[in-house]
Amino acid sequence: MKEAYRANEAFIEIEDLAFSYKRSPVILNNVNISFYKSEITAIIGPNGSGKTTLGKLMSGILSSDQGSVFLEGTNIKGITLGNIGKKVGYLFQQPERQLFNPTVKEEIGFAHLFMGEPKDKVEKKVSKIIEELSLQGLENSSPYQISRGERQRVALAAILINEPSFLILDEPTTGLDMVRKEKLSEILKRFQQQNIGMVIISHDKSFIKSNADRIVEVSGGEVNEV
Ligand SMILES: Nc1ncnc2c1ncn2[C@@H]1O[C@H](COP(=O)(O)OP(=O)(O)OP(=O)(O)O)[C@@H](O)[C@H]1O
Ligand SMILES: [Mg+2]
Repeated sequence: MKEAYRANEAFIEIEDLAFSYKRSPVILNNVNISFYKSEITAIIGPNGSGKTTLGKLMSGILSSDQGSVFLEGTNIKGITLGNIGKKVGYLFQQPERQLFNPTVKEEIGFAHLFMGEPKDKVEKKVSKIIEELSLQGLENSSPYQISRGERQRVALAAILINEPSFLILDEPTTGLDMVRKEKLSEILKRFQQQNIGMVIISHDKSFIKSNADRIVEVSGGEVNEV
């Protein structure tokens, strides 16, 4: 614990971070940046600049060679991935990578059933989230036999059941038409009203313009305010 965490402080704080994959050049170097719950931050930058890598470092999926990531003031290295996941939800750039159950409703509820929560309680939570994300009628469908937009909402639903206080969405508009993008904006606005902080990694300029409060850019290994 760095110091007592206060609500107006950074939710995720990155200090002097450097990262490279095994046998790869340095991807991120000397990164110092904070993310707050009160705003939606967009992360932009060219292909291959390290946006996804940064997102994975912020959510504990990857861990840094040098420097630190603090979550509400606590070094992420001291927190289990399961406990990070209760606070920070990460929507993968390819959501199918995080789907592996035979049906939509099992996909959304499995983690909680696995943790031993009573079945009727989990079912109630699952139906509420299905409604919130307009997935009604797809409960018994396979996550692999629905549209890309639906699949993304299923992945999001499986994250939301953990009631995270912060979300990192990696390229959430890829493959969505205008109507679906607007729907996604509405969903994000609702999250914001529920006091969920967000980072949106995106190339989609108009989506960023209408949804983000702040923009940071990853370029040449650095992360800077735009
Ligand atoms: N698992 C890995 N092992 C080795 N190198 C990797 C791995 N994943 C990504 N890289 C490399 O790290 C760099 C940054 O990749 P990353 O996926 O973070 O970029 P990005 O900014 O998200 O790109 P995009 O806009 O295409 O999604 C790239 O050069 C990529 O080839
Ligand atoms: Mg990426």
